[in-house]
Amino acid sequence: MMMDGGKMKEQSHLLSLLVAVVALCIIGFGDFLTIGYVNGDQYLIGMGSYDMTGPAAKVNMMGYANLDQNTAGIHFRLRARTFIVAAADQSSHQGGARFAFVNLDAGMASQLVTIKVLERLKSRFGNLYTEENVAISGIHTHAGPGGYLQYLIYSITSLGFVKQSFDAIVTAIEQSIVQAHNNLKPGSIFINRGDVENAGINRSPSAYLLNPPEERARYAANVDKEMTLLKFVDGASGKSIGAFSWYATHGTSMSKDNKLISGDNKGAAARFFEDWFTSSTKYSSSTIITNSSTSSDMEKLIEKAQEIKATGGKPCGKTTSQGFKVRKNDGSLFVGAFCQSNVGDVTPNVLGAFCTDSGKPCDFNHSSCHGNDQLCVGRGPGYPDEILSTKIVGERQFRKGVDLFKSAIEELSGKIDYRHVNVNFTNVEVELLNGGDKVKTCPAALGPGFAAGTTDGPGVFGFQQGDTEINELWKKLRDVLKKPSQYQEDCQKPKAVLLSSGEMFEPYAWAPAILPIQMLRLGKLVILSVPGEFTTMAGRRLREAVKETLITNGNGEFDDDTHVVIAGLTNTYSQYIATFEEYKHQRYEAASTLYGPHTLSAYIQEFNILAKAMAKGEKVAKGPSPPDLYSKQLSLSINPIGDTPPPKIKFGDIKEDITQPTSGSFTKGDRPSATFWSSDPRYDLLTEGTYAIVEMLQVKRWIPVYDDDDFCLYYKWKQDNTSWNSLATIEWEVPKETSSGVYRLRHFGSYKKTKNAPNEYFTGASSAFTVS
Ligand SMILES: *[C@@H]1O[C@H](CO)[C@@H](O)[C@H](O)[C@H]1NC(C)=O
Ligand SMILES: *[C@@H]1O[C@H](CO)[C@@H](O)[C@H](O)[C@H]1NC(C)=O
Ligand SMILES: *[C@@H]1O[C@H](CO)[C@@H](O)[C@H](O)[C@H]1NC(C)=O
Ligand SMILES: *[C@@H]1O[C@H](CO)[C@@H](O)[C@H](O)[C@H]1NC(C)=O
Repeated sequence: MMMDGGKMKEQSHLLSLLVAVVALCIIGFGDFLTIGYVNGDQYLIGMGSYDMTGPAAKVNMMGYANLDQNTAGIHFRLRARTFIVAAADQSSHQGGARFAFVNLDAGMASQLVTIKVLERLKSRFGNLYTEENVAISGIHTHAGPGGYLQYLIYSITSLGFVKQSFDAIVTAIEQSIVQAHNNLKPGSIFINRGDVENAGINRSPSAYLLNPPEERARYAANVDKEMTLLKFVDGASGKSIGAFSWYATHGTSMSKDNKLISGDNKGAAARFFEDWFTSSTKYSSSTIITNSSTSSDMEKLIEKAQEIKATGGKPCGKTTSQGFKVRKNDGSLFVGAFCQSNVGDVTPNVLGAFCTDSGKPCDFNHSSCHGNDQLCVGRGPGYPDEILSTKIVGERQFRKGVDLFKSAIEELSGKIDYRHVNVNFTNVEVELLNGGDKVKTCPAALGPGFAAGTTDGPGVFGFQQGDTEINELWKKLRDVLKKPSQYQEDCQKPKAVLLSSGEMFEPYAWAPAILPIQMLRLGKLVILSVPGEFTTMAGRRLREAVKETLITNGNGEFDDDTHVVIAGLTNTYSQYIATFEEYKHQRYEAASTLYGPHTLSAYIQEFNILAKAMAKGEKVAKGPSPPDLYSKQLSLSINPIGDTPPPKIKFGDIKEDITQPTSGSFTKGDRPSATFWSSDPRYDLLTEGTYAIVEMLQVKRWIPVYDDDDFCLYYKWKQDNTSWNSLATIEWEVPKETSSGVYRLRHFGSYKKTKNAPNEYFTGASSAFTVS
């Protein structure tokens, strides 16, 4: 695939040197422009990004399995972000061997989403993008709409399948891949690594301690702190076009009581990174010009603002809100993604877990407070403000990302390759290392520690992490659903089987059996796509085993420099993977290790097969195809069936206008807000549009300066408790960089008069106010 022949390479080096020199003269130095390293046409690279926010009202959020946690607005939007790398192949302008990596602002990947995305890719691109070379990886936010997974256990609290969530995700992945594909151009990729401080601690340290002391002694901490970052640079212009990084910490800065859609700390890091890049390179679409604000100027502004009243609701077009976006997606956005890794036992609630009654640390082994699991809750660095915690943990990742991005000088070169196999994890025969016995994995099952939840989101009362017994009452309840087979009970030991999900098939399968595992190679970087959450030590063992296998079988192609990263929650979801030793303790992660005590050993064995095949240039068998349960999905969630405003009111009219401050003007940190008569956001997701903006008056024109993808702007949805109409509250936390001037808040929405009527669109703005 790569160019061969020394002469051609020399010429291309000469050419790239020339290009670099010219580029240097034209653009000059800059932190964000990497020039002088453009290594000819080794790779084609393309970036893509697409809105996948989904339904912002009344849909259960995926992650905490909390029945009460239904969406009610947006903190910031969710996106699917993609990079594609292909070997530059002179014989085809489309390039040679390639893979696509999609970072999804979702709780996790879903087998059904993957299946449907691949179908769409096949009809667009033939066999260019298949299960083998497409990785779809969730960031593990617990604040996105649920109901998009095909196994029953993952859609119980969402009352079954939620088509709108599902469609939004599938379409966003497809669109971001199409964009990345259309953007493929020669370019270079740089890799960098460094530690992120204070963004994650181990939430099951008592389980970690069960790993052998000599193994633990090899590591400085009980979590992995390393972030691995790729920087993508366009070959022709020398401009950076994107960055993807991997680092392990849970998306649980937002709590189980949050109802605003949010990408949690990783989504926040991505938003900050993209905005940082865009503003530092002055690509900003709306450059804000303001007059200096002397006090007399300010008085004039206040006077002016007082004259501008709320507009009242007005009809608008389907795509009107898109025109008001601050970041318009024209297919050329800089893409910055913060991907998940071996996140199993890593919490972003870095202050530790404390009892909500006494304020004292919880019981070490069980994370409970005098036996009550529900009282033990972790604290983020912004405690008790979960949004501040999200921001801080997001910023810690973002800042490290920026450091690594600015100082990335090691260019990747070498082969693009991949291996993929589907494995039925119900019954994998595993030969233990060191000449040990043959053992087996089991059908999926959950233990009582699963029901206890974690310190990030405590579960059901009466359970504790570490439980290996189930009381008689729960046993009886369990047996009504499904009594586990004796085989299962023995196989899962020391886990007590609370839910034998792998033996439950009515009305359709409760848990996955067939799991995809995948290896992607980009030169010296090897990405392991795993369909779940490996704990810290489980991840270390897997990475180490794969690396060793590659080196042993690779004929010099792999060496100590080979860098292996784990991409967590990828392609499918099957909960946790704890080590054999951690499994004994049966904390949450172990109780959620579905396939029994040898789950990790099975992964290592199966990944070693892929690694050996990759090292030797051999193919691997495909394995059994996962089932497509789309037609079997049940759905009890109810879509809105038509909205009309109360008498004499139009959608978009103000219900509660801005409360003007007594000082006449808002300042940094204030929260001007306005409430509009509105509709259910599920009538139209306003994909790549916005429900809310902040506008600034520029001479005679209003310019959008923030939208519902901004961390400082909140779109909160609720139902009026007398008319049962929807209300949209737009709340703006005035950021410190805000210029003095006249502002207002504007809302966009859509509704249908009746279930089958066409969509109608509306907008309305609040009265003006000033910020000084
Ligand atoms: C936790 O459990 C281990 C193993 O059973 C025990 O040795 C240890 O004392 C316990 N620690 C605490 C703080 O209870
Ligand atoms: C996985 O393997 C088990 C045990 O061999 C078998 O019963 C089951 O049907 C398989 N699952 C699927 C989805 O093929
Ligand atoms: C700035 O002030 C001048 C003079 O008061 C005025 O003419 C101009 O329109 C102002 N510019 C903006 C952007 O408000
Ligand atoms: C309706 O909501 C308002 C605030 O939104 C609250 O003050 C009021 O008590 C509620 N009334 C009822 C009947 O729940």
